[in-house]
Amino acid sequence: MDRRKFLKGSALFCGLAIVGPALLVESCKKIDNSAQGPTVNFTIDLTQSANSALNTAGGSGSSNGVVIVNMGTNFIAIAQRCTHSGCSVAYSSSGNDFVCPCHGAKFDINGAVTNGPAQIALKKYTVTQSGNILTVVG
Ligand code: FES
Repeated sequence: MDRRKFLKGSALFCGLAIVGPALLVESCKKIDNSAQGPTVNFTIDLTQSANSALNTAGGSGSSNGVVIVNMGTNFIAIAQRCTHSGCSVAYSSSGNDFVCPCHGAKFDINGAVTNGPAQIALKKYTVTQSGNILTVVG
């Protein structure tokens, strides 16, 4: 092996030694499938006109980055920011799921991905009702 080939080979090896671990760490980050959404603790007053849609089964509204839905017998709450590129998802009563208008991702009522391109679930929150007050925590 001549000197020039040896130096080229050494430079390539050193480049891989430096970049390789960084690529490995980056690829490990993409494996994180935990649901994503903000940490919240807030209340919603169902008597306020801004929340009137929540008084009907299938009705929905949003607050604090969370979509809240009246399921008829209970309420559910799911993170509003799509895990693909951050558009706001909306509840679809016809599909009983959450749909992102930007690239078509869909999530079930537990926040799990049912249609890409999103690959990470939406965070689901706990909703409790006391009279006309909903408390959303998670
Ligand atoms: S931002 Fe939701 S599918 Fe792309």
